[in-house]
Amino acid sequence: MFVDRESEGREPGGHIVRDAAQEAARILGYVIQCDGSRATIAATSAGGHSLENGQWSVGKFISISLNETRTVGLVHDVHVDGSWHEEADNRILVHVELIGEVRDGKNGAPPFFDRGIADYPYIGAVAHRIRQRDLEAVYQLGGEDTVAIGTLSQDEKVTAHISMNRTLDRHFAVVGSTGVGKSTAVSLLLHKAIAARPELRVLILDPHNEFASAFPGLAVTLDSDTLDLPHWMFRLEEFVEVVYRGREAVPEEIDILRDVIPAAKNDYRGGGAASLRRSGDVMGITADTPVPYRMADVLRILDDRMGLLESKDARPVYRALRQRLEAAIRDPRFRFMFGSRIIEDNITAAIGRIFRVPSHGKPITCFQMAGMPSEVVNSVCSVLARLAFDLALWSNGQIELLLLCEEAHRYMPADQRLGFAPTRHALARIAKEGRKYGCFLGVVTQRPGELDPTILSQCSTVFAMRLANEQDQAIIRSAISDSSASSLSFLSSMGQREAIAFGDGVAATMRMKFELLDPSQIPGAAVRDRTASTPVASGDIDLASIVERMRHGNRDMSGEDLIIGAAAFSPAAGGVEQRPSVARLGPIVEEPVMRERRQDGRLFG
Ligand SMILES: Nc1ncnc2c1ncn2[C@@H]1O[C@H](COP(=O)(O)OP(=O)(O)OP(=O)(O)O)[C@@H](O)[C@H]1O
Ligand SMILES: [Mg+2]
Repeated sequence: MFVDRESEGREPGGHIVRDAAQEAARILGYVIQCDGSRATIAATSAGGHSLENGQWSVGKFISISLNETRTVGLVHDVHVDGSWHEEADNRILVHVELIGEVRDGKNGAPPFFDRGIADYPYIGAVAHRIRQRDLEAVYQLGGEDTVAIGTLSQDEKVTAHISMNRTLDRHFAVVGSTGVGKSTAVSLLLHKAIAARPELRVLILDPHNEFASAFPGLAVTLDSDTLDLPHWMFRLEEFVEVVYRGREAVPEEIDILRDVIPAAKNDYRGGGAASLRRSGDVMGITADTPVPYRMADVLRILDDRMGLLESKDARPVYRALRQRLEAAIRDPRFRFMFGSRIIEDNITAAIGRIFRVPSHGKPITCFQMAGMPSEVVNSVCSVLARLAFDLALWSNGQIELLLLCEEAHRYMPADQRLGFAPTRHALARIAKEGRKYGCFLGVVTQRPGELDPTILSQCSTVFAMRLANEQDQAIIRSAISDSSASSLSFLSSMGQREAIAFGDGVAATMRMKFELLDPSQIPGAAVRDRTASTPVASGDIDLASIVERMRHGNRDMSGEDLIIGAAAFSPAAGGVEQRPSVARLGPIVEEPVMRERRQDGRLFG
């Protein structure tokens, strides 16, 4: 271990260290070169004997003693000067990046850290392992909102703190390859955030339905069955995304819709014959205004206008639009939009349910999107992000909202041609202006290289976990502004739970390990329990019931539905092999279930 614990008589590993030896070992090297941001230290590596006192190794902090201050440096490169001799002392060169300086407090107060360097090391200055008190000073954050989230990687006895307010207010990102613990880190951060700011509301866009189980008693779930987002709350472009199933829309049909929807809104308000007027006459109401209207009125107005057409040429456009609308209204997947029989102005109730106002002790909403068609996800995310911003804006800071986007590269892709423009705009608006109104963004992604760079650049605190991909590492490297960029060279070799935290939320760039979380708070535990319980022999899998679920998009059927017990197939159980599933499988072969495959490989029927 590389930290000097003056109060302890033992080094880690149980070796008893004599005071004199410890003092000798603490003096490790001398500065032989220094520029504005880096220094080189010459030291000796005394073969195997020096192991117990810690060796020079990359990723560790050292301090360089000057008269009044101690310059803190991060070791980023170590090599032997010449060739290695087994039995002799070897001269080594240690390259460090200077990250700031520590001064002793007045009248016995603890030391404090400053990121700026006033006194640079002189040639010959003594460099040694950093003292634990100095290391604590480096990561010390003043203020009441300091929250412990784990320990430093370089010394597990030092707690890793973040400023919760600065982390939330200026948006944060968690990036890392699959399985390194991003979602678990998010669960930890959210638990701490709710404890620190009980008034905070959180909406999680949850593409794998894994977060609900991580917040027992604190979260409500929404899915396409329980969501109630009436069609009239959609803007025209969001509505069109649903109606056209994410495909290129027909401009003439959109023009008609832009005209007809305001007329239907006016009808709903009792405007009567206004349905035949043009939208310009309907004062102040546009296709985007969130006021109720009935789909029945839209269809009727379409019929009326079709009847009034002078030329028959325009009719096919009307007819195609009408058919499209009817198909969407009938589609069970869009029940949350068109399902309610009574159209009423229930926007307050709908928003209150989604954004937990009042929260009734459950400030988190998990919006479960697994199995939802992508065009629905696109437009619903757009509506939700837009509402989140407007709610924070118009509440004058009374409502604070965190929108957490898992797999954020899916709806904010770097490639401007992919994704859904309104979702991208709504999220970009939160990223750019949300902080002023109390609307915050949390971004989680495995592929920072595929995420819209403007969104990532707005995230002032980044928790970078292990990243294998070179391109992803480069993105993160370009995001780090301070002098400790070299700590990112560890990105490819970090362990599970480990992260490099940098930005506004931490005092200095910090390599840390998130706390071990209780299994009940680890996202996706429910899914894992179900799949890990019994490995199923392939002969026992009831493909028919799986297909049935695929067909109806119902993932909540109980685990037993998946497996037909061995008894059903076992000749010993009934003598005859029963195959109830085969008959049910039949129609699927004939039915054209998969009609189209999108560019991104997702299916929609
Ligand atoms: N802080 C932690 N405490 C306890 N276990 C953890 C912690 N972090 C990660 N793990 C373990 O690692 C596993 C994977 O973590 P997690 O699901 O958070 O990874 P992920 O990065 O979100 O992966 P994916 O990209 O696939 O979503 C967890 O199921 C858990 O067992
Ligand atoms: Mg995850």
